[in-house]
Amino acid sequence: MSVEIHPDAVARLRGFKLPEQLGFGDVMAPVMFRAVFDGSRWKAGELLPYGPISLDPAAKVLHYAQSCFEGLKVYRDGDSVSLFRPQRNAARMIYSAARLSMPAIPEALFIEGVSTIASYCAALVPAKSGESLYLRPFLIGTQAQLGVTASQSYEFYVIASPSGAYHMGNMRLWIERESARSAIGGTGDAKVGGNYASSLRSIAGLEARGFDQVLWLNPGDKHTIDELSGMNFFAVIEGDLHTPALNGSFLDGITRDSLLTLAQDLGLKVFEHAMDVEELLQSVKSGSCSEAFACGTAAIISPISELGDGDTRLKLPSAPGPVAERLRGALLDIQEGRVEDRFGWMQRLPAIVFDCSLEL
Ligand code: COI
Repeated sequence: MSVEIHPDAVARLRGFKLPEQLGFGDVMAPVMFRAVFDGSRWKAGELLPYGPISLDPAAKVLHYAQSCFEGLKVYRDGDSVSLFRPQRNAARMIYSAARLSMPAIPEALFIEGVSTIASYCAALVPAKSGESLYLRPFLIGTQAQLGVTASQSYEFYVIASPSGAYHMGNMRLWIERESARSAIGGTGDAKVGGNYASSLRSIAGLEARGFDQVLWLNPGDKHTIDELSGMNFFAVIEGDLHTPALNGSFLDGITRDSLLTLAQDLGLKVFEHAMDVEELLQSVKSGSCSEAFACGTAAIISPISELGDGDTRLKLPSAPGPVAERLRGALLDIQEGRVEDRFGWMQRLPAIVFDCSLEL
């Protein structure tokens, strides 16, 4: 399928000025990709000027949360740009969509959407290490009808945000013992908006209590560690790397998977298993846990400096620790093109550059 490029989208790109200060997800690229599913087939995608979406107030997404999304980044690569493992994001979006009875977005259409935005927004990819153009593909049910049934029509979008890292510096985690972000047999391992909505109440007010993020436990046993909101969890115990094994209630992170490969390549022993939170706390107290960190596409690697459990606060010996730093360096070296991509993770794309405020 060929993408229809709207002339106003090109005009918007020409006039765009990238702000000097970038937070995470604050600045939006002036264009977006859209493809429509009309009940029987996906129509050709379009590159449009960024702007509000017109939805009927009875659209299924607004009532029954038929909505899933992805996150991936565009990196500079000399005169080109590149994407990191976009097929993994496509596969996960197909999985998330199926969990919500939404149609599969064909891999080719997903790749076309993210590649079109990446190529056209090449000049918006920030140059500093650790910064990038963050892409947010999402799929929503648009049919206007209030019955609790799957929508007949859908829209797929890709928007982009020139961004810094999601979390800068060390994170203080609070262990959530009461509430859960997902349920056994629920949608915890799908990237759906509802999982994030249900995490917000626990996150609210954390800062006032001196914490940054919640550490979620498995909703079934309330003992094993699942994930943070939007990030996977790792700990270094007696020099080995430990992470919770995938169990259906948290997300199969692409950064998580990549770090497991890189860690083994660097000669570390890696353990994916059910991690009991009491054992983790004990290993921090005894000093056998030397560091812990979280990872995700947006966050890359964020060191954990402290764990809070009720009234108890435990400090980790080093944050960032040496393992987190080595892994972060190894991952960014591949993503930012400083070393050979031995795993075949990067996908190079032509840069289409307009006369906007940044030059490649
Ligand atoms: C990502 O890392 O891409 C995520 O989706 C996490 C997020 C919700 C900021």
